Amino acid sequence: MCGIVGYTGSAQAAPVLLDGLRRLEYRGYDSAGVVVQTGDELKMVKASGSVAHLAELTGGGRSLEGVCGLAHTRWATHGAPTDTNAHPHLSEHGLFAVVHNGIIENFAALRSEQEAEGIVFRSETDTEVVAHLLEKYYDGDLKRAVMRTASRLEGSYVLGVVCSKEPGKLFCVKEAGPLILGLGVGENYFASDVTALVARTKNVIYMDDGELAELTAERVTVYDRTGREITKTVSHVVWDIEAAEKGGYEHFMLKEIMEQPRAVKSTIDLRIRGGRIAFEDFSLTPEELKGFDKIVITACGSAYHAGVVGKYVIEALCRVSVEVELASELRYRDPIIDGHTLLIVVSQSGETADTIAAMRECMARGAKCLAIVNVVGSTIARLADNVIYTHAGPEIAVATTKGYTTQLAALYLFAVWCAERLGRLDEARYAELVDSLRALPSLVQRAIDLNLHARYLAERWHGQKSLFFIGRNIDYAAAMEGSLKLKEISYIHSEAYAAGELKHGTIALIDEKRLVVALCCQERLFDKMVSNIQEVKARGAKVLGLAIEGNRRIFAEADDVLYAPRGEQLFAALPEIVPLQLFAYYVARENGCDIDKPRNLAKSVTVE
Ligand code: F6R
Repeated sequence: MCGIVGYTGSAQAAPVLLDGLRRLEYRGYDSAGVVVQTGDELKMVKASGSVAHLAELTGGGRSLEGVCGLAHTRWATHGAPTDTNAHPHLSEHGLFAVVHNGIIENFAALRSEQEAEGIVFRSETDTEVVAHLLEKYYDGDLKRAVMRTASRLEGSYVLGVVCSKEPGKLFCVKEAGPLILGLGVGENYFASDVTALVARTKNVIYMDDGELAELTAERVTVYDRTGREITKTVSHVVWDIEAAEKGGYEHFMLKEIMEQPRAVKSTIDLRIRGGRIAFEDFSLTPEELKGFDKIVITACGSAYHAGVVGKYVIEALCRVSVEVELASELRYRDPIIDGHTLLIVVSQSGETADTIAAMRECMARGAKCLAIVNVVGSTIARLADNVIYTHAGPEIAVATTKGYTTQLAALYLFAVWCAERLGRLDEARYAELVDSLRALPSLVQRAIDLNLHARYLAERWHGQKSLFFIGRNIDYAAAMEGSLKLKEISYIHSEAYAAGELKHGTIALIDEKRLVVALCCQERLFDKMVSNIQEVKARGAKVLGLAIEGNRRIFAEADDVLYAPRGEQLFAALPEIVPLQLFAYYVARENGCDIDKPRNLAKSVTVE
């Protein structure tokens, strides 16, 4: 959940580190710090607050001399976001500085042991024990000290290590959580995400769990858990730094909403050849596909909401039973999963700790795993048997938009592909669905164009204290995502409800102060939704309706209207989420919220 970056080369390290850190701030933003090695000393500045604040304190990094160092942006787990709890953490005599992403589960036992040895702790973090272990085990051999330290740690962690006595040298270790090495000319880097590196190099190495790397300006050496040198593949990042910049938009979130037509197009077009959906890289045989008696989809947050949509679409097209379960629940159950289960894991980052744990649990029981992932080379992508990459490009805003819509696109592709392979579609319907998939990018663009008035609706409704999103069938699944979008960036309480369920208790909360957002895009259920709208209006609620373009009846029912363009009804969740994203964005903007970095959140949840 934190972001780390390391640099060694011949340029002044701190400005490079701060630039990298700025691009990692979506991972955590409650405090930040930087350390550089100069002569045989470590110079450190850290403070609660943003990377911009750290940059102010260090003159953009220029006040810190030195060509080798580490930096960190934090999302607090152990200890409040104070100056002292900010990373890096120094060892007792200041020989070592450490940055950490993850959780050291046995830190309490290690801390007691170290306190008994007379060490006085400066912070409340789990990380500080690592710095003290390094100093204890260091006898002039840095690699050995790092390995011995790592062998004492339990939990999930990525560590960056610098030692005052080892000029120009950095170590990093990965045990769950993302870690990428960047290979430059006369300089090398590591970071939690390629976005921190891509302005300086596009040649990267994705580290695996249990590996450690030694970096100097000239050389990068990767070792396995036993300390044996290993050869890693160098990958080339295909996108440019502009993709990770705001490009003139006020917020990354708005830019990413506007990028959705292109992102959905890339996800779909790359998988359609000659009018047919192509997953030729899949290892799934038609016999295996026929042998699955159920599909289980697991994920967290918005990715889970994409999975809920996936259930409706896959069941409708493939006639295979689909269960959707939150990864944080699935991982601690005793699920009925075996070799006849196809597991679909959905994750933008590919690093979400609960999703990885649930995936491991299900794969250990024999399930075949298909992952839908955005980040290339991420842990989930590497663990899965088969991967559908979404081609959203880097998503920087903490609240996902294009990440979610490209996940829907990938699930739709899979559903149609699978239905055809299972013999559930005749040629005409297959061709119609493929055409509908190809139409999605222009429908997303149309959804943007139709709803530019969302900003005026936001002016009217931004003062709400609490609201409901209601819908039926696929609209209910979309309502879950619409509701989450609003609450996470505007801090307005909001709940998604199956429209038919409201009267079984929750309608008690409806009164004349309440705004209800009614999703009415499943046209065969429109009359049912009208009844639900009338139920809430009878209790004084105001209604913001979301209906298919051209539907005029909605005007008679709703106080205000958003529109989704007309297209294949099974795929409606994708265009219809766009107006809800825009509404959430403008409401949060009206309320002066920090849209790209909402409070208490972080983009990549690599802790449980
Ligand atoms: C909400 C949001 C989160 C993520 C969730 C899973 O806007 O972004 O709910 O969807 O944390 O993240 P990934 O998809 O990276 O596994």
